Amino acid sequence: MCGIVGAIAERNVTGILLEGLKRLEYRGYDSAGVAIMSGANNKIHNVKAVGKVNKLVAAAAKTKVKGRLGIAHTRWATHGKTTVANAHPHMSGTDIAIVHNGIIENFEVLRDKLIKDGYVFKTETDTEVIAHLIHQTRKSGKVSLLNAVKKIIKKLQGAYGLCVIDRNSPDQIVVARSGSPLVIGVGIGENFVASDPLALSQVTDRFVYLEEGDIAQVGLESFEIWHGGKKVKRAITTIQSTASDAEKGKYKHFMLKEIHEQPKVIQDTLDGRISGNKVLEEAFGIKAKGVFDKVKSVQIVACGTSFHAGQVAKYWLESIAKLPCQIDIASDYRYRDIIVQPGTLFITVSQSGETADTLAALRFANKQSYIASLSICNVATSSLVRESDLCLLTKAGQEIGVASTKAFTTQLTVFLILAIVLARRTGLKPAQEAKLVKELSKLPGLITKTLKLSNNIKKLSQQFTDKNHSLFLGRGIQYPIAKEGALKLKEISYIHAEAYPAGELKHGPLALVDDQMPVVAVAPNNDLLSKLQANLSTVSARGGKLFVFADESIGYKSDKSCKVIHVPNCPDILAPIVFTVPLQILSYYVAINKGTDVDHPRNLAKSVTVE
Ligand code: M6R
Repeated sequence: MCGIVGAIAERNVTGILLEGLKRLEYRGYDSAGVAIMSGANNKIHNVKAVGKVNKLVAAAAKTKVKGRLGIAHTRWATHGKTTVANAHPHMSGTDIAIVHNGIIENFEVLRDKLIKDGYVFKTETDTEVIAHLIHQTRKSGKVSLLNAVKKIIKKLQGAYGLCVIDRNSPDQIVVARSGSPLVIGVGIGENFVASDPLALSQVTDRFVYLEEGDIAQVGLESFEIWHGGKKVKRAITTIQSTASDAEKGKYKHFMLKEIHEQPKVIQDTLDGRISGNKVLEEAFGIKAKGVFDKVKSVQIVACGTSFHAGQVAKYWLESIAKLPCQIDIASDYRYRDIIVQPGTLFITVSQSGETADTLAALRFANKQSYIASLSICNVATSSLVRESDLCLLTKAGQEIGVASTKAFTTQLTVFLILAIVLARRTGLKPAQEAKLVKELSKLPGLITKTLKLSNNIKKLSQQFTDKNHSLFLGRGIQYPIAKEGALKLKEISYIHAEAYPAGELKHGPLALVDDQMPVVAVAPNNDLLSKLQANLSTVSARGGKLFVFADESIGYKSDKSCKVIHVPNCPDILAPIVFTVPLQILSYYVAINKGTDVDHPRNLAKSVTVE
């Protein structure tokens, strides 16, 4: 995680760097810092603050620091507490400043050696070793900054996106990438670097994506990239400004804005992929048909909310496409003895496309005998998309709230389309496809209707504010939706929330039920409804307080022990997507009641680029 920005220009870059950091706060917000080179003697001014970027902005305003070359960082702590000392940039003496995203796994060995060589460490971080290694390599005055970086990265084990400045080389920033994303932002007579183009959309729309193992020297007028000892050329990609995505508009929080964007982004995700009564298979790209024809089973890998999307998809792949499907948590997948059945398609799911565990799983899978790798992802330029054979993009737009909302519902939308395309090969008839596509096209309208429940849910949320624990229940395909609801609530309101398949209640969790434990259930009108109702009555019988989101067609009524919120009637196939929305709204308002930082929940970051 952590966000990096760097700039070299003929104007003051402090404002550019601070604005870039604000846009990167989704990558971490424990502390932030900026190192600016200025004055005739190229002094490096290092300003740091604990907390969000606004704290750094205030600190930088006091020092009035200005300069034409600088690097900046927003931190998600891995090694060492969230103190000013541990905030980046880290320096070696007064000459070298670096910012780093990633983890140096062998830092202790390197640090012990550097201490023996006389270096004094001022932080608890893994990063500080890099600054001293560069200093040690350069101190003879014979090695250029670029060559020093090339040399020392051979000693590093782990992951890094790295930016280095040195007052003895005041005309350049040197950057290196291995395991953590980095882009060069190309300007006119000025250049920039960042861990995400979003940080630089205020100054350029032209970007060069560095590849794994690239090292670059970035100057005022030009930049050069090396890979494996050779100079290489990388294409410049023009990206349209995402400024409106980065604004909250009329909403108080990005999360609320993103919840309300769902009808539009689901429509965007469907556009060009369904037409009339069928799915347009051509929309998956020319390589897709050859791969889809060979699929006999599916392996899905993901983390967090994206994992829940994969869990729902397993039901669809089995019921619609009649394909066996396995799903694993990405951080565990490559540590078990996997057995790849012939004809298995490997699918990763990720909003960011930079989640380290998911990326590592993909790299592992690419060496196995899967027929192909496919990523379902929201960022077209991400590492995951670039390293997969096929991709199906969700069109959710930039998701800024740490709690994932619109990314999830668009992932589910894409999975439904994929299940239909694969089902054609396993006997789905055109009439059945037409029915599914017709239902799918109703989804944006149904979500719009569901959003109208907001005021009712807001009132109901007050009953959760003083609670410490909660249970979420669902059956079958709704169990992952209950899990997603529980994840949202714990993530932003810090209320402990656990999800169970409702049939499991009697096997243990029922012991927890009392009047202080709200029990939330999702009850669409499906085959398992009567079973679910029987499970819920065991909660009421024990004095538990139920909150049931029920399809309006069931006729479920509120009573003393049960508050019912009627969800618009929807086709079975769409229920997991529709029933997600009220749970998102519930967690949002509970967090508001509790006064937590909804878009930046404690201890978390949007993009988890460490293992
Ligand atoms: O970018 P990804 O979808 O790969 O991220 C995976 C998880 O880190 C993410 O879904 C996380 O669980 C969210 N904060 C949940 O709201």
